Amino acid sequence: MCGIAGYIGKNQASDFLLDALKRLEYRGYDSAGMAVLSEDNALNCIKSVGRINSLEEKIKKTQLNGCLGISHTRWATHGYPTKNNAHPHSDCAGDIFVVHNGIIENYKILKERLIKSGHKFKSDTDTEVIAHLIESHFKDNLEQALLSALKHIEGAYALAVISKNDPGKIVVAKKSSPLVICIGENENFIASDSSAVVGYTNKVIYLNDNELGIITENSHKIISIARNNEIHRNHCNVDLDISEIQKNGHEYFMLKEIFESPEVMKNSTRGRIIPEEGLVKLGGLEVLDQNKLRNINRIILIACGTASFAAMVGEYMLEEYAGIPVEVELGSEFRYRKPIINSKTAVIAVSQSGETADTLASLEEARRKGALTLGIVNVVGSTISRETEAGIYNHVGPEIAVASTKAFISQMTVLALLTVYFGRIKEMSLIMGKRITEEIDKMPCLIEKVLKNDKQIKGLAKKYSKYKNFLFLGRKYNYPIAEEGALKLKEVAYYVHAEGYSSGEMKHGPIAMINENFPSVFIVPNDSVYEKNWSNMEEIKARNGKIIAIATEGDENIKNIADDVIYIPKTLEMLTPILSAVPLHLFSAYMGMELGCDIDKPRNLAKSVTVE
Ligand code: M6R
Repeated sequence: MCGIAGYIGKNQASDFLLDALKRLEYRGYDSAGMAVLSEDNALNCIKSVGRINSLEEKIKKTQLNGCLGISHTRWATHGYPTKNNAHPHSDCAGDIFVVHNGIIENYKILKERLIKSGHKFKSDTDTEVIAHLIESHFKDNLEQALLSALKHIEGAYALAVISKNDPGKIVVAKKSSPLVICIGENENFIASDSSAVVGYTNKVIYLNDNELGIITENSHKIISIARNNEIHRNHCNVDLDISEIQKNGHEYFMLKEIFESPEVMKNSTRGRIIPEEGLVKLGGLEVLDQNKLRNINRIILIACGTASFAAMVGEYMLEEYAGIPVEVELGSEFRYRKPIINSKTAVIAVSQSGETADTLASLEEARRKGALTLGIVNVVGSTISRETEAGIYNHVGPEIAVASTKAFISQMTVLALLTVYFGRIKEMSLIMGKRITEEIDKMPCLIEKVLKNDKQIKGLAKKYSKYKNFLFLGRKYNYPIAEEGALKLKEVAYYVHAEGYSSGEMKHGPIAMINENFPSVFIVPNDSVYEKNWSNMEEIKARNGKIIAIATEGDENIKNIADDVIYIPKTLEMLTPILSAVPLHLFSAYMGMELGCDIDKPRNLAKSVTVE
């Protein structure tokens, strides 16, 4: 969590640094700050609690002039979100400034040691020790001081450092937190991710763990921290369009991204399905030894949050249609268990950002144990995409709202593709392959139809916004969607409590909460468990509970039991979650808006959880 940026060139650094922070704000938004080196070699720093616009207001009044600087947007890990704890942090003299994304695990010991040797601390953060450590090692060269300081540091970091005593450069270092160096014309940039530089340059170099970088106006250099030798790496061209990181007429990114769902399906499946042959082509997996793939006899899907619900849908798909045993593991659990893995196990990380710390650590654990590691990742060039042996990109463009919506649709889509891919390698018939791929091909149109219920869903959000608690219920393929519906509502309508449960489990506990003030959202398409769901709805009704049903078009009977119905078109049972998630995403967004929440940046959250 936290976003960092840096600029060196001929222009006013604060222009880019502010712009970058606005784009990186999804990574954290409880405070922000910027340090700029002026032409007369004075280091000036401005910090502010709250969103980037409050920092912007301060900067407008202060004139932070200079062509070299660093900036930071924070998601607090150590210390309250106060001005003192906001980055950049400095050494005692205010000659060195540091911005940091990550966690310094041994900061307490380091801080005690530094205080004993006379250093004066101004914040409660772990980051400040870095500035003082650099100060204690500084002779006349910033990168040498940082290299020496890093020898004492344990933990995760993406760092950018500037000093008035070694001006004309930004020094960066990376371990377990993302960092890119971006190459411009007579100017260079650094950032937590490449979305920060769209419109400035598309030439990006991804730093690897344990690397240090030095950028000047006209040069960049990468050094191995362990070996202290130079590493030569070419840049990649990142083809992001500025419109992809703008709201394009929508009030919120979350709404824009939900409405992109049909396009998302097209982008995630483009060139990958061959309906006439009932086949799926996944270029990303072609680099692998096909015999190794054929011999995979177990899959573990690792993910966190919303991605884990997509993985649960994938588990049902893969087991039913590809006949491979699948388990879904939360990254935060898997990494500390003793999982049984062998070379016929494929461990697949599902992650929008490709940076989630728990998912990444689990993947490393799986690789150590000999599994084939794969990724289903959206952010191109992200750590998970680089650390896995092969993978499938979602191709849905930047997801900026903190709540994941379009990536969720794509994750389920890619897992459906993977099901056909593995299924056809194994025992899936041509007919079944055709049936599924033809239906996947139709999905964008079906989602368009769901989105046409937008006004009705907005009305329902208004009607139900007075309720403080919701239960989301579903079975089989739609049980994970019940979990997702509840998570999304909790996230973006953060004055509301919601729980996601399997309809069948409801009578084992949650039913105790049901009364006329506790509505249930039932996901009840016409599928193999429709009758079972119906019995559960009866149980809710018998306790005066209100029901909002997500049902299949043409199901008139549902109106006899549900208070409100949102219809989705008919499709294959395994694909219903892709349709049923969309109205739930809209419902959460509109509920949040009704309650006056900032649905793009929910309280206490950050998009990319790069800490444990
Ligand atoms: O980037 P990832 O997909 O790995 O992120 C996983 C979760 O942190 C993420 O899905 C989170 O639960 C979202 N805020 C959900 O909307």
